[in-house]
Amino acid sequence: MWWLFAFLIIPGDAQRGAQLFESQRCISCHSVQGKGGQSAPDLGQRTARAFSPSLMASLMWNHAPQMWSAMDRANIPRPQISDEQAADLYAYFFAFRYFESPGDAARGRQVFVSKKCSECHQVDGAGSEAPAVTQWRSASDPIELARNMWNHAPKMKDAFAKRKLNWPSLNGQELTDLMLYVRNVPGAKGGPPQFSPAAPDTGAALFEAKGCTTCHRGDLDLAKGRLRTRTSTDLAVALWNHAPKMVQLPPDISNAEMRRLVGYLWSIQYFEAPGNVSRGAKVYASRKCGSCHGDQSSGAPPLTSKTKNLDSIGVVSALWRHGPDMLGKMKEKKIEWPRFKNTDMADLLAYVNSLN
Ligand code: HEC
Ligand code: HEC
Ligand code: HEC
Ligand code: HEC
Repeated sequence: MWWLFAFLIIPGDAQRGAQLFESQRCISCHSVQGKGGQSAPDLGQRTARAFSPSLMASLMWNHAPQMWSAMDRANIPRPQISDEQAADLYAYFFAFRYFESPGDAARGRQVFVSKKCSECHQVDGAGSEAPAVTQWRSASDPIELARNMWNHAPKMKDAFAKRKLNWPSLNGQELTDLMLYVRNVPGAKGGPPQFSPAAPDTGAALFEAKGCTTCHRGDLDLAKGRLRTRTSTDLAVALWNHAPKMVQLPPDISNAEMRRLVGYLWSIQYFEAPGNVSRGAKVYASRKCGSCHGDQSSGAPPLTSKTKNLDSIGVVSALWRHGPDMLGKMKEKKIEWPRFKNTDMADLLAYVNSLN
């Protein structure tokens, strides 16, 4: 199974990312949801598309030359960013873009009632056995949400059966709406956004220990056969919808364990938009990457899976480290700075990693 880690994506930590955002002075130009400078885009803003590592990588590529000249004008040294730091930055933005797809709080309120969450959960106050929504920690922590959806689904299945209610399965949009509603309830506890998956190496063992492999053929069937990026809300929904399929009560999962499982899903690129090798070859050609990277004399290192397995996080750190030199060489060769849209970046990486 170790070959899978060839694609290892380092899981980041939102809190370290927040520190980095200040220490690297990103904050002097950018804000994250209103806090920080005003001269550059707010990086915590929701987009219509799911926020994946390859989306972060392409946004940064597209804007890098303008950003670097803004830094020169403001006398801010260009930061060097390691792979680990790029992962932390990603986790930080991701935590803020928790509701990756647009939601509707009013619709969420209806989901809360129609899916019978309101049977046990009050909106606020104390006294009931289930935590009131104002107390939900899950509201700011997608890993906590996934954990709770897994752990309490089987107990709820019983509770529902006793009351002769049908099991309320959920879809991604419904949970997105519901959590948006929860976050906006007056008095919601919230707390700072969190996202910190753990290193994936022990997550694979846990995947087995928790019995996931009794039904899933390990990692493969979770990573394949999909067309779009999956969000953390999609994961929580998938875990919730397991309950009716479970013959016996599944084991509880602790927060530390869920962080490892998410780190593991991360490493098999469960959350990443899948790339397409032949589309990637076209991106590589049209952006003229090969005119330097395919020519030893240019000083550009060859981009193949041999030199280094490039993932979106690695692209971000490479961009900050090598980008200015690359931009200089492109100006000499009169090559326009490449820009990426949609799945271009994911496709390009799939192509580069297929080369030997
Ligand atoms: C001197 C000001 C300045 C600093 C410092 C700065 N940026 Fe930027 N950044 C910009 C500007 C200006 C743009 C928009 C450029 C454009 O319009 O093409 C931008 C664009 C971006 C974008 C694309 C945003 C989008 O949604 O389209 C990302 C991501 C980004 N910066 C990340 C960072 C990170 C991470 C740091 C710190 C390591 C940083 N920036 C530091 C000025 C800055
Ligand atoms: C049969 C009663 C019952 C129903 C119905 C119910 N829950 Fe719960 N829920 C609980 C209990 C009890 C807990 C406390 C955690 C535990 O012990 O599993 C909880 C905890 C939670 C938490 C974790 C709170 C936190 O601190 O983050 C979330 C999220 C949650 N429920 C979501 C839902 C959603 C969404 C629905 C509707 C689809 C729902 N629940 C319906 C009983 C219920
Ligand atoms: C009883 C069999 C069974 C067990 C045990 C099981 N799963 Fe699943 N899982 C399924 C089935 C069946 C589906 C397909 C669900 C569907 O299409 O509704 C699924 C779907 C999923 C998905 C969504 C896949 C996608 O395409 O997005 C994830 C993620 C997942 N499981 C994770 C886990 C994890 C993590 C564990 C262990 C903690 C686990 N599963 C244990 C049967 C199981
Ligand atoms: C005009 C020449 C040129 C073009 C075109 C070019 N690059 Fe580069 N690239 C370079 C040079 C030179 C370096 C090494 C810079 C350094 O050492 O700081 C580099 C470094 C890199 C690195 C870092 C490699 C490592 O080992 O960490 C990556 C990733 C990269 N380029 C990707 C691309 C991609 C993707 C394209 C096409 C979209 C591209 N480059 C187009 C010249 C170019």
